[in-house]
Amino acid sequence: MELLKQAIREKGKVLSSDVLKVDYFLNHQIDTQLMIEIGREFAELYKNDGVTKVLTIESSGIAPSLMAAHTLEAPLIFARKKKSLTMNNDVYVSQVYSFTKRETNDITVSKDFIKEGDRVLIIDDFLANGQAAKGLIDIVNQAKAEVAGFGIVIEKSFQDGRIKLEEDGYRVESLARIHALKNGQVYFTDELSK
Ligand code: G4P
Ligand code: NA
Ligand code: NA
Repeated sequence: MELLKQAIREKGKVLSSDVLKVDYFLNHQIDTQLMIEIGREFAELYKNDGVTKVLTIESSGIAPSLMAAHTLEAPLIFARKKKSLTMNNDVYVSQVYSFTKRETNDITVSKDFIKEGDRVLIIDDFLANGQAAKGLIDIVNQAKAEVAGFGIVIEKSFQDGRIKLEEDGYRVESLARIHALKNGQVYFTDELSK
């Protein structure tokens, strides 16, 4: 997605060979127009796939998911990282290991919101090692629902998240795929030969 790549090039900051900071439009300040376009793109990619629910994880997955769910006319559900006070115990729980934080955290979704028969589009801001994705799949499986596929805003193709998801037979649609972060520069997979 050209508009997204442009935002990454112009406003992203390469922090190291494996971390891209996108606080100017996605992870802190949010570019609402860009989020709307991203959401529309996901909806276009999955419009013929019978999606009944869109599932993401708080907090940064919510903004790019909103317009996708709206366009697909499906509710948007976000997995919580902290159990809310008002949540009862009827929840699906999964463990997500974070390589960056070196800790495992529970994510939870109320059983009210994903049911058997649902076709779930899973959206997230980043795909790195696929740990968050794995936890979200686990929750969809616990609900006896089906994963329609993944919508990823920024895929770090040099980490193994996509490979693992594809090996398990999942469809992965990423709007920007990064081959490498080097010398302060972002190299996209579709521009390698240029
Ligand atoms: P994984 O789920 O794919 O295995 O990734 P990992 O544990 O490494 O990711 C932990 C957090 O860091 C996630 O957000 C994820 O979206 C984010 N992340 C991963 N790689 C990058 C990167 O290169 N740049 C940025 N900016 N974020 C990255 P989170 O902590 O759950 O936070 P949030 O959703 O509340 O923002
Ligand atoms: Na994040
Ligand atoms: Na995230």
